[in-house]
Amino acid sequence: MKNSKTNKEEAKSKKATTTKSSVAEDLRELFVDSLKDIYWAEKALTKALPKMANKATSTKLIEGLEHHLTETEEQVKRLAEVFSLIDVKARAKKCEAMEGLIKEAKSIMKETAKGPVRDAGIIAAAQKVEHYEIATYGTLVAFAKTLGEDDVAAILATTLEEEKTADETLSEAAYNDINFEATDAEEDENEEEDEK
Ligand SMILES: [Fe+2]
Repeated sequence: MKNSKTNKEEAKSKKATTTKSSVAEDLRELFVDSLKDIYWAEKALTKALPKMANKATSTKLIEGLEHHLTETEEQVKRLAEVFSLIDVKARAKKCEAMEGLIKEAKSIMKETAKGPVRDAGIIAAAQKVEHYEIATYGTLVAFAKTLGEDDVAAILATTLEEEKTADETLSEAAYNDINFEATDAEEDENEEEDEK
């Protein structure tokens, strides 16, 4: 009787352990999958950012995009380091979301003439990219911490901070450096005429 109770308890505790470890395994799998996804996304950005800088007019925006390209190249290397730390082969997996965001950026650049409106479109597209990356790295840092991968979490947090700064730089470019004055002046003249 005692034995059967012990056996039952043992079985119950074994089941609980198995469930707990399989959840951890599933989370690790999701974590690795997300890493492959962002690895693809960062690599795609190293090709897209120079094209965006090339089509931009505002000096501040061009500098911001070029600076973020340098950071992005470093972020790709950082991800390779993360893969090696968790003992997984560094492999990129196509990120449908980033592919869509880059396509959107391309179509904005195609549909606008060179100048402030195209710059505003480039900023909007680049900020969507940054927000996607901020969400992704925020999640990856949390996953890494949960999985007890503190070194990995610290590396990913460095990238997360860079993405946040890039987003702020783009906001500054959008609000302070894009010159819509010519259009405003024309509108003011028209308004004055309307008032007469
Ligand atoms: Fe990035």
